[in-house]
Amino acid sequence: MENERGKWNSNFIFILAAVGSAIGMGNLWGFPYKMGANGGLPFLLIYFVMVVLCGVVCMCVEMAIGRKTGKSPIEAIGGLARRWKIVGWFGALSATIIMGFYSMLIGYALRYFVGFLVQIFGVGGFAGAASGADFFVAFTQNPGAVLLYTAITFLICSLFVMFGTSGLEKFNKIGIPGLFIILIAIIIYNLTLPGALNGYVFMFSSKGMEIAGTSFNFLKAVRTAGGQMLFSLSLGMGAMITYGSYLDKKESIARSAWIIPVLDTVASVFAGMAIFPAVFAMGQDVKAGPGLLYITMHNVFTTMGVAGNVIGALFYLLIIFAGVSSAISLMEVTTSAIIDGRTAKGKKSSRKGVTFAVALIMFILSIPICLDRLGLAGGEGAMWPLYSFLGAGSQDLLDLYDMVTEGLMMPLGALLMCVLVGWKLGFATVRDEVLADGRKWKLEKFFEVCVKYITPVIMAFVLVSLFLSYFGL
Ligand code: TRP
Repeated sequence: MENERGKWNSNFIFILAAVGSAIGMGNLWGFPYKMGANGGLPFLLIYFVMVVLCGVVCMCVEMAIGRKTGKSPIEAIGGLARRWKIVGWFGALSATIIMGFYSMLIGYALRYFVGFLVQIFGVGGFAGAASGADFFVAFTQNPGAVLLYTAITFLICSLFVMFGTSGLEKFNKIGIPGLFIILIAIIIYNLTLPGALNGYVFMFSSKGMEIAGTSFNFLKAVRTAGGQMLFSLSLGMGAMITYGSYLDKKESIARSAWIIPVLDTVASVFAGMAIFPAVFAMGQDVKAGPGLLYITMHNVFTTMGVAGNVIGALFYLLIIFAGVSSAISLMEVTTSAIIDGRTAKGKKSSRKGVTFAVALIMFILSIPICLDRLGLAGGEGAMWPLYSFLGAGSQDLLDLYDMVTEGLMMPLGALLMCVLVGWKLGFATVRDEVLADGRKWKLEKFFEVCVKYITPVIMAFVLVSLFLSYFGL
């Protein structure tokens, strides 16, 4: 009995940590706005297909590589096939670029948290803005303020790194369920808003596009959903290799590879159910873009009156924690890559020192994004001249960083990892590791076919679709 309990406990902690990494701004910010911009239901269905045919499969592959080698991504992949190490470095580079915009998005949440918090004490927290959209524009157009909140985000992350992340992990135990609970509460509250049901029509019915007046571009939806899925599940960059390396041989990879994606997807769908009904009730546009989460939820909390300030502050606090816990593991991806690289060269490194250097590089990367004002200035972004040659098909610098990572590097990483284990090393690498727990693997054939054929083909299609976007498709 003792033993059984112990097993369950450790697996529970593993799942919690992995879910903590997965759930973040990707679910709350990225998923709803991308679904809104890509026709609603068709995007949702493509997303589900992506999760099952690619997400679960890549999760299994990464966890198996991690547990088999017991090492961090670069060492793990390099140990299996020396020349494929580059996939690990790709992951480190992705993590660095992601943090360039991820930190700003947490910074936004921080600004809203402060806004609602001071309103609890009767002080106006949103500079007299008439609506959620007005405030969002005013705030994002103020690069100094955005930079300040982004800098505070890095400070918070660095403090956690300095004083240890165990406090954050303990918080996640409450924070993640707390986030689910508050999302459910908002979903229920939304039902009282007139016109809210159209949000469900948009999300779950074929009439959705009609009522929202949106169009649907299959190629764009596929590349957006594919990238979003990898981003949301923290896949394609080796992050889950690290998590797998801490997993006990007795635990079931086959099961974890389903549980994590399912929980993460539920969180994304809940975020949609918290946002879309409100979008329709408030007469907003589902295609509002990256501001959707912030503008809509601001409006929702405003309709709640005084209680809205408390609930709003709590909601943004939980988002900040979900975001910061993901941000710290993003920093960890780059940090461990650099430390491994230096160790391979026989150099010693101080983990804290490297982490701060990494945080500094990431902060420097975030500066142009903060100054870009989401491209609102003049329609092309204040930073446009810097990236116009790269930026075909993206609306602003945030979109460009996002596209380079989740649209290009992560699908490439996922594709290469599948080819590595499916073809170069052989599927037995994964199979033996999954079967090491002594259980039966009912879906073994499904995974084998996916790893070898289906997942790489879909990832290649996502990449081709990105390439075609340069030609306006
Ligand atoms: N999955 C996280 C989110 O949805 C972001 C993320 C992407 C991430 N890759 C990662 C987090 C690697 C940790 C490690 O917000």
